[in-house]
Amino acid sequence: MPVPLFDLKRQHAPLEAEFKAAFERVLHSGLYILGPDHAEFERECARFLGVKHALGISSGTDALLLALMALNIGPGDEVLVPAFTFFATAGCVSRLGATPVFVDVCPACFNLDVADAVKKTTKKTKAIIPVHLFGQAADLDGVLALAAKHKLAVIEDAAQSFGTRYSGKHAGTLGQFGAYSFFPTKNLGALGDAGLLVTNDDALAERATILRVHGMKPKYYHPFIGGNFRLDTLQAALLRVKLPHFASYTKNRQANAVWYTERLSRVPGIAVTRPQDCHMHPEHATTAPAIPAPKITLPAACPRHEHIWNQFTLRVHGPGRRDALLAHFQQRKIGAEIYYPLSLDQQECFKNQGRGGESCNRSRILAGEVLSIPIFPELTAGERAEVAQAIEDFVRQG
Ligand SMILES: Cc1ncc(COP(=O)(O)O)c(C=O)c1O
Repeated sequence: MPVPLFDLKRQHAPLEAEFKAAFERVLHSGLYILGPDHAEFERECARFLGVKHALGISSGTDALLLALMALNIGPGDEVLVPAFTFFATAGCVSRLGATPVFVDVCPACFNLDVADAVKKTTKKTKAIIPVHLFGQAADLDGVLALAAKHKLAVIEDAAQSFGTRYSGKHAGTLGQFGAYSFFPTKNLGALGDAGLLVTNDDALAERATILRVHGMKPKYYHPFIGGNFRLDTLQAALLRVKLPHFASYTKNRQANAVWYTERLSRVPGIAVTRPQDCHMHPEHATTAPAIPAPKITLPAACPRHEHIWNQFTLRVHGPGRRDALLAHFQQRKIGAEIYYPLSLDQQECFKNQGRGGESCNRSRILAGEVLSIPIFPELTAGERAEVAQAIEDFVRQG
């Protein structure tokens, strides 16, 4: 049975009548830019996230860029970013003429390792961008402590983590800014590009609001140079249809993760990531490697926080083994994807731009090991079983 990596048509079919009603509402309003649905969506997001200000933005990338612009990051500044993340996290830093400084990540939670960030902090460091990768929060206690010590701005890249919690609070709401993406495959996905920028700081919110419309205030007077970073009213209206269903999407993703973990951890050669393998665990430094070494390691949710499972990412150990598993999936028509095949410090465009990549070995190893499998909310029990069986067969054959 073929299994897709995700299937947005399945998610959207039951919402078709509501989408059409939202479209007609916007159509008949005649207000297509910053219209009433846009303002209402911002209010709903602020309430949902428990944050003071939420700005609808054209994409997650633009939300990151706007945050950096609002903080006046530019040439001569260094910004700490994880080496293992989507390109946009570091791309936005370079676009403003600043230098991304690549920080290695933890192989257990995939997120920025604060100890490495400490080593790479210099007098030029102005900001840090912790990414909450795959739906799980980064070590915000560590990041906030480092930021307080060196007066760094914290921009949380929560593109994959709308709804993720860190010690009970929403990831994205603890730094100066939080940037979210509503790219269609995210846990809350639009029907096109869309994003959100949040902050609890009134002055930063005001500055970002002005920069979102070309740095303009009042109309046609430009105290700053900004851009056009507005969210389409139509996308806001469509996202408002999906927001009430978000809790059920998350519940289904979490149930899929629990099911995969129970089913696959019974297979010899497959192990679950141990809590002490994470750099945030108090006994991490003294932890001996697992014996025997597993062929595949399953991801695990840190018990203190809430994982929303944007991705369920396996680590497939041994040279060539990840690519062999991908080929095995392709043969069975099972969707899987490598997020990400190259750490950022190894990307051609950053060869002469970034700094710090020489010590991002764990990110480089992960790039050769990771494979994300179907976890979307509408995945059926039969499909889930098919994916798990394919993994079990692969491990038993190898
Ligand atoms: C970690 C991360 N940062 C930033 C972005 C950029 O978001 P968008 O695609 O909405 O521009 C993404 C999107 O995939 C992402 O995963």
